[in-house]
Amino acid sequence: MTSKASAPGKVILFGEHFVVYGVKAILCAIDKRITVTAEKIPEDVISIKSTVGNLKAIKNKPITEIDAPLRPFYYLANKIIKKYEPDSGIQITVDSEIPLGVGLGSSSACCVASAAAISGIFEKIPKDEILKLAIDAEKTIFPNTSGADCTVCTYGGIMQYDKQNGHQKLDYKPNFHFVIANSKVEHSTKEVVSKVEQFKEKNEEKFSQMCKEESDLIDGVFAFLENNDLKKIGTSIIKNQEYLEFIGVSNEKLREMIELANESSFGSKITGAGGGGCIIALADETNLENTISQLQKNNYECFSAKIDFKGLDTF
Ligand code: PMV
Repeated sequence: MTSKASAPGKVILFGEHFVVYGVKAILCAIDKRITVTAEKIPEDVISIKSTVGNLKAIKNKPITEIDAPLRPFYYLANKIIKKYEPDSGIQITVDSEIPLGVGLGSSSACCVASAAAISGIFEKIPKDEILKLAIDAEKTIFPNTSGADCTVCTYGGIMQYDKQNGHQKLDYKPNFHFVIANSKVEHSTKEVVSKVEQFKEKNEEKFSQMCKEESDLIDGVFAFLENNDLKKIGTSIIKNQEYLEFIGVSNEKLREMIELANESSFGSKITGAGGGGCIIALADETNLENTISQLQKNNYECFSAKIDFKGLDTF
C-alpha cells in the first residue's frame, strides 16, 4: 500500500522579526509543494530518500542519533509505525518544488506531508491531528517553533499569527502573484534573530516605536487584502521593508534585489529572517513577466508563485 500527501510552502507577507516581540504577522501558503510518498516495506527498517539526504536505520533509535534534516521524517515514521504496526518497515520518498532552507517553509511542508502520508498508510486522520504530529516532528529540529509555518502549510490560504492569540485563518482571496527571488546567501534564522535582539537592547525606545508602527501598518493591510488593492498592499510591503532595513536584517545584495524588483512590481521585501534567503515582490498580470525578466537579467534566480488555498492534500 502506497500513501501520498503534499503540502505547500509559505512566505511571510508581513511582520517577521516584530512577531518575536508580540506583533501580528501575516503568512501565505504558496503553490509550490513538497510531496511525500510512504509505503510499507518487507525489511524491518525506516528508509528515507530525499534531496536533503538518504537514510536507512533500524527503528527506535534515540532521535539525537539521526542527522538533523532527516529527524522529522524518522520521528514520524517511528511514532506512527509503533502505534499501528510495530513489526512493519517503512520507506519514505520526498520530492520538492520548494528551494530548501531559504525561509520558504520547506521543513514545515515536509513535516505536514510526511505526517499525512505515513499515517495515511494505516488510517486517514483529520487535518488538526496531522498538524499536531507535524509540529511535534518540527520540534525535533526547531524546539522553539511557534507552529505558525506548519499551520499555514496544513490549511493553506492566508493566516495571521501572534504570540498571544496564536493562529487565525483569514478568508480573503486576493488575486496576485509573488515573484520570489533567492539571494543564494546562506543565513541562520537564529543568528539574525539574535542580532535583532541586540539591536533592540541598544535601542529600546526606538524599537518599541517600530513595533507600534509595524503593528499599525499590518492592521491597515487587512482591508487592502480584502479589496485586492495591490497598489496599497505594495506600498505597505515597501514600508515594511524600511522597518526591516532599520533593524539591520538586510544587506547589500538584498537591497539590490529589492531596488530592482521595486522598479516593476507593486513592492518587494525580505521574507523570513533576512541576512540572506529570499525576497518577495508583489505582481499581477501587468508586471509579472517584466519583474521576472529584470531579476533574471541580473542573474537572480527567481520564480513566480500564487497563494495556495488548498493546504495539505492527500491522494
Ligand atoms: O526565515 P523563516 O521563514 O524561518 O522566518 C523567521 C521569522 C522570524 O520572525 C525572523 C523568526 C520567528 O521565529 O518568528
